[in-house]
Amino acid sequence: MKRSSETQRSQRKNEHIRWAVELADGPGRTGFGDVLLRPEAVPDLDSRAVDLSTTFLGLRFPFPLLINALTGGTGEAARINARLAQVAKATGLPMAVGSQRIALRDPKLTYTFTVVRRVNPRGVIFANLGAGSTPDEALRAVEMVEAQGLQLHLNAAQELSMAEGERAFYWSEAVAAVASHLPVPVIAKEVGCGLSGASAQRLLALGVKALDVGGKGGTNFVRIEEKRRRGRGSPFLDWGLPTAWSLLDVVGTCPGAEVCASGGLRSGLDMAKALALGARICGVAGPLLTAVLTGGVKAGIRLVERWKRELRMSLVLAGARDLAELRHKPLIFTGETWNFIVQRRLTAYRKRARG
Ligand SMILES: Cc1cc2nc3c(=O)[nH]c(=O)nc-3n(C[C@H](O)[C@H](O)[C@H](O)COP(=O)(O)O)c2cc1C
Repeated sequence: MKRSSETQRSQRKNEHIRWAVELADGPGRTGFGDVLLRPEAVPDLDSRAVDLSTTFLGLRFPFPLLINALTGGTGEAARINARLAQVAKATGLPMAVGSQRIALRDPKLTYTFTVVRRVNPRGVIFANLGAGSTPDEALRAVEMVEAQGLQLHLNAAQELSMAEGERAFYWSEAVAAVASHLPVPVIAKEVGCGLSGASAQRLLALGVKALDVGGKGGTNFVRIEEKRRRGRGSPFLDWGLPTAWSLLDVVGTCPGAEVCASGGLRSGLDMAKALALGARICGVAGPLLTAVLTGGVKAGIRLVERWKRELRMSLVLAGARDLAELRHKPLIFTGETWNFIVQRRLTAYRKRARG
């Protein structure tokens, strides 16, 4: 019984990788197309002096990008994790491993996660488990990779889209127990359907220290699960909050919270928009997976370097010398995203739009 469910898990991991690479983003949009930085034609800046560094959970990073949770638990996943860890080491980026549940159940698979720490002994690594995990499981996951923090993923839409998925989601007590027992901070993370401001407030009250909005518009797990079970379409392919809306709602409702923006970020310009909306750091998963699978470590590093150039260029063109200045620059909102801001009475952003 145990063996068959583990085999099923390993097979699922490999299928996730395959479909994530094969499928395009969406069909929902991130909403970043409706967010414009106001151009500054006279920047009075030297692009080489622009500071892209950030702090997240008390840690300082030279570039505000996190390699978000991807994989682990199979031989292929171990090879991917080794490559991602090499990218992280070469670029100084923090990295989250994929869900470690599979290794907690079957310790033989621990190596598929610990490879990340072995490759990058001094890097910042976040552990990852589902939100229903116990404090003991959380501690074991953190110790496994000597993590500086733990991501707890919230993936109800994915579970309900899976034939073999969970059906009950009593997560609040479990999240509070993990947050109060762990010696490292907990990050609550959606995986493509977006956190609302109200959910974010609840999670902070339960003791989580940071939020990853994980919005709609990038990798879509409802769609991946639909492909895995050869379904005939689902009305939930477009479920959730676009990443930009989720960010507006979370930052607008919980000012001062430490927020990571992820879900469909595909350039340094997307990063600039997310950081201007108030994110402390951005997360990327799908594009880096494709990069290291198709072009190895070098392609992963190239992607990071390109986004770095694009983020630098965005700051100069918006007239910001660092991310703190970018957070106060005027913004232009169009289309449905502006309607969302008005509907949700997000006053701080309405002021930014008046500029
Ligand atoms: C193949 C694959 C596996 C993933 N596995 C996990 C996981 O185990 N835990 C988790 O929190 N997120 C997982 N994610 C979600 C990502 O961390 C991220 O939230 C999501 O892909 C949206 O970002 P993106 O649009 O940049 O891909 C996975 C993503 C992919 C593509």
